[in-house]
Amino acid sequence: MRVRRTWWAAALGATLSLLGATLVAAAHRNPPPAECPQPRFTGQAPAALYNRVNPLAANRVNRRAGEDLYHELLQPACVDCHGERGEGNGPLASQFDPRPRNFACRQTVNGVPDGQLHWIIENGSPATAMPSFGFLSDEEIWQLVIYLRSLADGH
Ligand code: HEC
Repeated sequence: MRVRRTWWAAALGATLSLLGATLVAAAHRNPPPAECPQPRFTGQAPAALYNRVNPLAANRVNRRAGEDLYHELLQPACVDCHGERGEGNGPLASQFDPRPRNFACRQTVNGVPDGQLHWIIENGSPATAMPSFGFLSDEEIWQLVIYLRSLADGH
């Protein structure tokens, strides 16, 4: 009798700890990439800004600077929403509807001009969870745009 109770207790304990470990693992896993093509819910920049072309060269130095900003800015950071590979699947992403932009999705982002990306980073997108990063310099925003474009190139 005593032996059987112990056996049941041990089995129950093992099952519960396995369940706990699974739940913890699930909580830390990023959601799957956002859909592609992905519908866009952000407003359009005023014409003069929409058509601006990135004045910076898309070289390694600028791309690296953009990559650092993408990971370091706290607001939270771009990476927390847009994800490590820009697939719209950072750890916070599933909280938001619409989901953060999937920058890896060429079909969606290749049709969006530099000036539009710049404008949204500077001003945010009030109809969505996209915050404003207006405290950045113009140069920093353009470096971010270079980095975002590289995500669609598969770099
Ligand atoms: C709190 C979550 C969150 C953070 C942090 C965040 N974004 Fe976003 N972002 C979003 C959401 C949500 C959208 C809206 C997607 C849509 O319009 O469908 C968005 C949209 C965008 C767009 C608009 C693209 C377009 O199609 O016009 C750009 C560009 C962008 N984000 C860049 C960034 C950059 C760069 C950072 C960091 C400096 C950043 N985001 C941080 C959630 C976030």
